[in-house]
Amino acid sequence: MIGRLNHVAIAVPDLEAAIDQYKTALGAQVGPPQDEPDHGVTVVFITLPNTKIELLYPLGDASPITGFLEKNPSGGIHHMCYEVDDILKARDQLQAQGARVLGTGDPKIGAHGKPVLFLHPKDFQGCLIELEEV
Ligand code: CO
Repeated sequence: MIGRLNHVAIAVPDLEAAIDQYKTALGAQVGPPQDEPDHGVTVVFITLPNTKIELLYPLGDASPITGFLEKNPSGGIHHMCYEVDDILKARDQLQAQGARVLGTGDPKIGAHGKPVLFLHPKDFQGCLIELEEV
């Protein structure tokens, strides 16, 4: 069902420092910060030859990243994003097998302008999984 690894997301406590590190120390191609109010995050995409890294920084009072950074003050891997062809079909199949979809269960439009949804980490080896329809 799942296809390519679309990105690995890292929550960061200092966005400017993280951008500078990926640009300067690691020599990566770093995009501009994008505010995503629907998701409570500011995101920065870093393009690698085979996948992307998504830096996540809290935006607004109800950001899902705030609690994560309280537990992981130096930052950490927040989620993995896998590509799927048909997000509703993937969701229905996974729910039929008992997996929990976060939020309303309906896809939202993600940072790439494509439908995404998140699967409960307790159902997937402790890893929060984002599915993105491509
Ligand atoms: Co993501």
